[in-house]
Amino acid sequence: MTTLGTPLSPHTTKVMLLGSGELGKEVLIALQRLGVETIAVDRYENAPGQQVAHHARTITMSDPAQLKALIEAERPHLVVPEIEAIATPTLQELEAAGAVRVIPTARAARLTMDREGIRRLAAETLGLPTSPYKFCDSLAELQAAIDGGIGYPCIVKPVMSSSGKGQSKIDGPADVQKAWDYAMAGGRVSHGRVIVEGFIDFDYEITLLTVRASGQGGQVETHFCDPIGHVQVSGDYVESWQPQPMTPAALQKSREIARAVTDNLGQGLDGQPSGRGLFGVELFVKGDDVWFSEVSPRPHDTGMVTMITQWQNEFELHARAILGLPVNTALKSPGASAVIYGGVDAQGIVFEGVEEALAVPNSELRLFGKPESFVKRRMGVALAHDADVQQARQSAKLAASKVRPRAA
Ligand SMILES: Nc1ncnc2c1ncn2[C@@H]1O[C@H](COP(=O)(O)OP(=O)(O)O)[C@@H](O)[C@H]1O
Ligand SMILES: [Mg+2]
Repeated sequence: MTTLGTPLSPHTTKVMLLGSGELGKEVLIALQRLGVETIAVDRYENAPGQQVAHHARTITMSDPAQLKALIEAERPHLVVPEIEAIATPTLQELEAAGAVRVIPTARAARLTMDREGIRRLAAETLGLPTSPYKFCDSLAELQAAIDGGIGYPCIVKPVMSSSGKGQSKIDGPADVQKAWDYAMAGGRVSHGRVIVEGFIDFDYEITLLTVRASGQGGQVETHFCDPIGHVQVSGDYVESWQPQPMTPAALQKSREIARAVTDNLGQGLDGQPSGRGLFGVELFVKGDDVWFSEVSPRPHDTGMVTMITQWQNEFELHARAILGLPVNTALKSPGASAVIYGGVDAQGIVFEGVEEALAVPNSELRLFGKPESFVKRRMGVALAHDADVQQARQSAKLAASKVRPRAA
């Protein structure tokens, strides 16, 4: 049974978000609406989520000592990772000592922290279909992996990176050195390990939002949202829509893969299937064939579309699931999202054209309030709903194109 408290009182329910970007901000808003006391942590001040939480803390989350000190000082009931670059062994240690509960589990945060943990779990432990892959620590190993069976075209990614950083496609021998150098420059930490994956020539790719939430009897049950289709440019999401039409066979395989992965990640250190929360399972689809790509044990950027398509968006689903409350994954209307990039490198930018954007029928905007803009930084998203998903895509893209960020 879940009991919720009163914020800022001795009987409070406290949740700490590790990472307070645009996704964390929406989770924080969903928690605020349930009267949960929130602590927004990020590596820089005035991060989007810090602007809507009860408390803001700025630390280096990949530093074990800083992370441990903060959790011990704040004593939250739940710790909710929103990003991958966290000292996850520290979370495991604190969870094992019974000091805190990590969402969905500290083990899941650790396994998904780099590409190697989750890929080996999916392909080698669970036997799920994935692209062919090899991990390499040098240019020579990369070349040997390609020659030894991965072949061309293939994709190289730093094991520690997200949003397409350091990722590139290799079409032939002339691209190998360039891809290696690019990966070395784009990885999150300066150790030179990459994954090289055979290129999957998919028809489309989806995110299958999968929720582990408590059922009537208290046991954890799995719920699926409608599949989300998306377009990625240079490994970064630019557009998404829901629902993505699929054959019944492809949908069934997708759900089986998502269930296998989330069942596993939902197991704690003790092997108990107690982990709760929402996951974004990324899958490639060609005809009736489905490949597992990767998974976020938390809301997914392409899932921002659910802010306009579902009765309970992915952030509300996550908030409910982690608090032990029931969830409803039903679709409200087809819809789409389109990303608004900064377009400039500047602090405190201004947005022109907002009224034109919102004049697009059935549209909405989210501007994240990030204090600093970069040319390719995601600063906002346009949303649109329509009975016809193709029309929704057009509307979302049109609304996004009307917003013109510029230096103040
Ligand atoms: N093996 C692959 N074959 C084809 N496309 C791929 C492959 N791996 C990645 N991609 C493309 O690049 C995108 C980003 O890759 P992903 O592994 O999800 O990186 P990130 O963690 O940065 O999101 C994918 O959504 C897909 O469009
Ligand atoms: Mg991805």
